[in-house]
Amino acid sequence: MRHNSLSRSVCGATKLRRARIGPRLASAGLGMLAALALAGCAPNTTTPLMPASTNSKAIYDLFLVVYAIAALVFVVVAAALVYAAVRYSRSKDNALPPQIEGNVRLEIAWTVIPAVVLVAVFVFSLQTLFAITRTPPAAAGQPDSTLHVRVIGHRWWWEFVYPGLNITTANEVHVPAGVDLELDVESVDVVHSFWVPQLAGQKDATPGHVNVLPLRITQTGVYQGECVEYCGTEHALMRLQVIAETPDQFQTWVQNQQAGPAAVTGAAAQGEQVFLKGACIGCHTVNGTAAKGLTGPNLTHFASRQVFGGAVLANTPENVAIWLADPQSVKPGNLMPNLHLPPDQISALTAYLEALK
Ligand code: CUA
Repeated sequence: MRHNSLSRSVCGATKLRRARIGPRLASAGLGMLAALALAGCAPNTTTPLMPASTNSKAIYDLFLVVYAIAALVFVVVAAALVYAAVRYSRSKDNALPPQIEGNVRLEIAWTVIPAVVLVAVFVFSLQTLFAITRTPPAAAGQPDSTLHVRVIGHRWWWEFVYPGLNITTANEVHVPAGVDLELDVESVDVVHSFWVPQLAGQKDATPGHVNVLPLRITQTGVYQGECVEYCGTEHALMRLQVIAETPDQFQTWVQNQQAGPAAVTGAAAQGEQVFLKGACIGCHTVNGTAAKGLTGPNLTHFASRQVFGGAVLANTPENVAIWLADPQSVKPGNLMPNLHLPPDQISALTAYLEALK
């Protein structure tokens, strides 16, 4: 029953199952179909073929060039193959065609032409590589105001820290569109990889090392991302979303995040007591309270997020209650144990968390 209500309310659960058959389909040459099946469920289409940042646009442009070259090579080779098969077919008089051994001009041609093609692809690739690893120059007339965000991989969720703004959040990251961003990608445990297909290529999240991902998002919107380096049991449920807003909307969000936690009353106040006296504070932080745990997501403004649990659950009271009742039934192996909370504590905690706007 629980599982039924979960998969009805959470698109991610059905996406997970499809994602697991994805590689097999892809290896059968049906990767495109798999991508369409996955995209069918997401609120926003997630594909590198719809670039929405300077970084992904550079990659997309390279893709078009390489695709055009590959298509041309295919047409020439296929045409030569068909011509040779028809022209030199043995069926006509059942005699061997003239047997040729060695042709210097031909051999030079089929060595030089592929070499030139490969050098051209190499040069285009190198140009793109430099473009996507360099912070883009500030837009004309704008001061350089690069926003730095630390992207930290955890088993199995993403943490986002804004060093200059004193904000810590999880699973979804708000950024302004049209502003230079520098994402500093790292990990606290194993190697993960950060990928938001519409915004940039994949960037490994490695413990003890920061990989820098510069980009400027060109369109507001919500962009889905995921971990793309196998990192254990719940690798497939380690997702995120990037919410790119106008600078004004972003400022509003920043002010809300910088404020202390909302004052709570009624059931939410009871939930706060359960929270502060229970095991929760060992792993979670709520700014301005005794809860200062760092293992799990910072919950100060939990209710302001659209998703939780590695961005696989919609942030609804029903889903929060299901998660609190047994996190292991939702994401087996995740680091939050089943606390065997009684139903009244679950509903109080749910009221509390959903009051943390
Ligand atoms: Cu983290 Cu895969």
